[in-house]
Amino acid sequence: MPALVTGCAGFIGSHLTEALLSDGQDVVGVDCFNDNYGRTHKLRNLERALAHERFEFVPVDLARGDLEEFVAASDVVFHLAAEPGVRSSWGARFETYLRNNVVATQHLLEATRRHPSTRLVYASSSSVYGDAECYPTLETATPRPYSPYGVTKLAAEHLCLLYRRNFDLETVALRFFSVYGPRQRPDMAFSRFLHAALDGDPVHILGDGGQTRDFTYVDDVVAALRAAAEASSAPGRIYNVGGGTRASVNHVLELIAGMIGHPLEIERAPAEHGDVRDTSADIQLAAAELDYRPSASLEDGLSVQLDWTVKLRAQLVETRSQSRRASTSLR
Ligand code: NAD
Ligand code: UGA
Repeated sequence: MPALVTGCAGFIGSHLTEALLSDGQDVVGVDCFNDNYGRTHKLRNLERALAHERFEFVPVDLARGDLEEFVAASDVVFHLAAEPGVRSSWGARFETYLRNNVVATQHLLEATRRHPSTRLVYASSSSVYGDAECYPTLETATPRPYSPYGVTKLAAEHLCLLYRRNFDLETVALRFFSVYGPRQRPDMAFSRFLHAALDGDPVHILGDGGQTRDFTYVDDVVAALRAAAEASSAPGRIYNVGGGTRASVNHVLELIAGMIGHPLEIERAPAEHGDVRDTSADIQLAAAELDYRPSASLEDGLSVQLDWTVKLRAQLVETRSQSRRASTSLR
């Protein structure tokens, strides 16, 4: 049976989709290309999957469309579609967060309710902890989100688990911690830092740069998602998925300067509302039940993201000059 991946054109969803396809799994991918970043970027993420014969793309908005037919035909739903991003969840944009995170999840759960043997793995977030009770943070810590985004991710997580308690659905929640790697969303820190550094533009540090994150490499997140789809103990559980490397923004910038071979120009901006000071995952439960072992060191993962960014920029330059040549020859 195919796996259903919602948010398949996104950063993490596109990596998961490719990993499943390359292991011979049929995949139905759903995405509506919401406007958090460019459609071209998301189409590029999907390029390899679209060329694969085992992949079917369904351009549906989960908050509106009906996915029951696809849920019925799948034994696992990986639910990654969402409005992500902590800092942009204030003000008028909150409605979009409610719609794409809470309403969309409820629609998907209603479709799954009629097919209780289909497992649903939900992409939750470290943002449900807010400024956490303790570090490293256990799954049992009281959630107290610090951003509107975190509230919507927690609400959707509760929905997943209450559908388990009411209807015995096989729902699992994975709390990812600041994920990075090739295709990282353009609003996220590493992506912004690397492009600015390669352009010779200033890098913007929000706050004093002493804030820390348990940065997690995207392939490790994909491994955790796949393990959660298989493990017999997973239904009804919440697992932290962290990278095992807690680093400050200042430290990340030192690593980037070292890799690029010149100092970065730094501009400081005030810390933004919704940003917590620290995150740190206790991953013992995922280690014990999902055999989860983060494999990438921050240095190695960052270096892969840097190489990918350099190649992407070269491709974009080539595409632009090809289209300039084509338009000149048409004149
Ligand atoms: P992303 O924006 O790259 O991918 C999300 C995808 O979902 C996008 O392609 C978007 O078009 C799609 N989408 C949004 N609303 C939709 C809807 N109503 N119907 C259909 N498709 C819709 O984000 P990402 O960074 O890959 O995040 C994936 C998931 O992981 C999200 O649920 C996010 O909250 C969660 N998460 C991400 C991180 C991280 O560091 N990136 C950390 C914790 C949790
Ligand atoms: C990330 C994702 O964006 C969320 O979708 C996700 O839910 C969250 O991780 C999570 O772990 O739950 P965030 O930790 O803010 O959120 O990730 P980054 O954008 O990589 O930011 C990391 C740090 O860099 C933050 O402290 C931020 O303030 C800082 N930053 C970011 C800067 O100093 N400058 C920038 O230009 C961007």
